[in-house]
Amino acid sequence: MYDIAHLDIPPLRRCAGTVRLPGSKSISNRVLLLAGLSDGVTAVHDLLESDDTQVMLAALERLGCRVQRDGNVHTVRGIGGRLSTAAAQPLSLFLGNAGTAMRPLAAALALLVTRDGGDITLAGVPRMHERPIGDLVDALRQLGAQVEYSGHEGFPPLRLRGRRGGVADTARPIRVRGDVSSQFLTALLLALPLASGSDGAQPIVVEVEGELISKPYVEITLALLQRFGIAVEREGFRRFTIPADSHYRAPARIHVEGDASSASYFIAAGAIAAVDAPLRIEGVGLDSIQGDIRFVAAARAMGAQVTGGPGWVEVRRGAWPLKAVTLDCNHMPDAAMTLAAMALFADGRTRLTHIGSWRVKETDRIAAMATELRRLGATVVDGADFIQVEPPRHWRRAALHTYDDHRMAMCLSLAAFNPLAGGGVPVRLLDPRCVAKTFPEYFETLFDVVATEPRDIPVITVDGPTASGKGTLASAVAARLGWRQLDSGALYRATALAAMRADVAATDTTALARLAGALPLRFDGDLVWLDGIDITAALRHEEVGALASRISALPEVRQALHALQLSFRRVPGLVADGRDMGTVVFADAALKVFLTASAAMRAERRLKQLISKGISAKLDALRADLEARDARDMHRAVAPLKPAQDALQLDNSSLTIEQSADRVLQWWGERNAFD
Ligand code: DC
Repeated sequence: MYDIAHLDIPPLRRCAGTVRLPGSKSISNRVLLLAGLSDGVTAVHDLLESDDTQVMLAALERLGCRVQRDGNVHTVRGIGGRLSTAAAQPLSLFLGNAGTAMRPLAAALALLVTRDGGDITLAGVPRMHERPIGDLVDALRQLGAQVEYSGHEGFPPLRLRGRRGGVADTARPIRVRGDVSSQFLTALLLALPLASGSDGAQPIVVEVEGELISKPYVEITLALLQRFGIAVEREGFRRFTIPADSHYRAPARIHVEGDASSASYFIAAGAIAAVDAPLRIEGVGLDSIQGDIRFVAAARAMGAQVTGGPGWVEVRRGAWPLKAVTLDCNHMPDAAMTLAAMALFADGRTRLTHIGSWRVKETDRIAAMATELRRLGATVVDGADFIQVEPPRHWRRAALHTYDDHRMAMCLSLAAFNPLAGGGVPVRLLDPRCVAKTFPEYFETLFDVVATEPRDIPVITVDGPTASGKGTLASAVAARLGWRQLDSGALYRATALAAMRADVAATDTTALARLAGALPLRFDGDLVWLDGIDITAALRHEEVGALASRISALPEVRQALHALQLSFRRVPGLVADGRDMGTVVFADAALKVFLTASAAMRAERRLKQLISKGISAKLDALRADLEARDARDMHRAVAPLKPAQDALQLDNSSLTIEQSADRVLQWWGERNAFD
């Protein structure tokens, strides 16, 4: 997750590969509730991991469901449509700010306590107590459920009470408003099968008052009920009938689709930049039950080549530039924002209409989109319910605002493909962490499938003598920029370790170079793996460092590690530390730092490090060893340790890590200004 103030995306040129989407939130919580009410066991695959799903899982467990997790599978044993005697004791459930848990649980529990007895309070965070629920409570009261507001009329917390043996009154149609939120109708539809086995076993009818909004979400509800054995009949979106004697049946296995709105950013990326090979998107397919899958048709109209099947979509660039379109976007307001970003790459003016709802979302999305696209150089006209975009003639190096709106951030990231439309500028996104609302790993996912010219990927090098704190400084800088990191010393150390383990002599140049050229090395966060073995700790052993220092003087070994080091230069940027990062390996780096600190200071730091690991050592010996290594590193024939001509020197003897990082970031900021 990019928990940083801003993220700079270098100019991008290609995308290809495979992405997996996070699960859809709407589907996740509906599936959990249905599995929880069912008789039997449901294995739920690929559930979304978010606050809202955590809240639902916790509530279901309190109600007597058994949930087990194994990797990406949650196994839910349902309560079989009955409250256990334990749950019939007074019970209070905390539902955070999860609307997708509060509404359907209120409906289901109201019906359960009416029949099985109980006293259950549903509460949440203060914000939850400001979110209306009156329309749903009104509908539940028509059924004879005893629902009280413990706080303010019309809002949670709710208290649900009943005596064992009660019967819900389902003889007359239940009326619910549909023009405020479709979630109240969804909650009723999910819960009413609980009352369909009542005496007389009548079908239950729900009638919608007002024009139902967000119909695609009600379609998701109906499709999932079907998977759990409930065949709701409907007349348009006005009248829904739940057949008599309906029972939830666990489908044994159910897969949560990836989020179709999230798919739109990758479908767009493929349409723009999947030139050599397709971009494959897994988790959501052309058979999706989510309304936003209709984005595929719009992307095709703009030129994308899209194929797909159940659970997957593949996208390639078709027409180029993209084709400008005029489109009514009423049926997919969220995904339509992505079309506005695609319009930056079209052959003319794109006009998106019927998007008035953009104005009342996370932010005023019409105004926000118009402002930010203009910053990039586009010509934009916006009105009450439309936006019209013409691509930039001259792309500007812009810092873009994201308005705490995940979709703004994801849409605007697509502007980084500007080299494909005559640009060549990086894009700065302010506050990128807002993507966490629906897609915490969005940028990581994007960066794994994009490519560009190495020269466009910024590198900062940090060179310096042993124990100068290069590695620590490099990781602090990398973390604050959201960049990747290369600890090149680790490659020499890994070669040394591999040589020790394979009994290769320090003088056997050919064998050492062969080892270095084919290191089965993998970096995973702070861990380093060699041939499947965790060597993180072993790499730091003194004898490994000593051998690394010796073999790093061999030109053949250095040459063998060269390509591996270059391969770390990946989007969005790299901080590389070592001895020759600025002089040899990344001689074109945009910023080169040469760290210095006295041998006495470095020896003290190393001593502290060793003591903290419980290893005893002597200061004098450490210092002598450091000086010997300095001498070897500085006087070797190839790539000797010395500052690059254009390096900036940083003596960190009296600086904290934070202060050193601040200095480097300040230098970087001066060289890397945005409009
Ligand atoms: O930075 P370090 O102590 O982890 O490096 C281990 C050895 O590798 C060090 O003695 C010098 C060598 N090295 C090198 O020659 N060139 C680099 N770019 C990095 C390290």
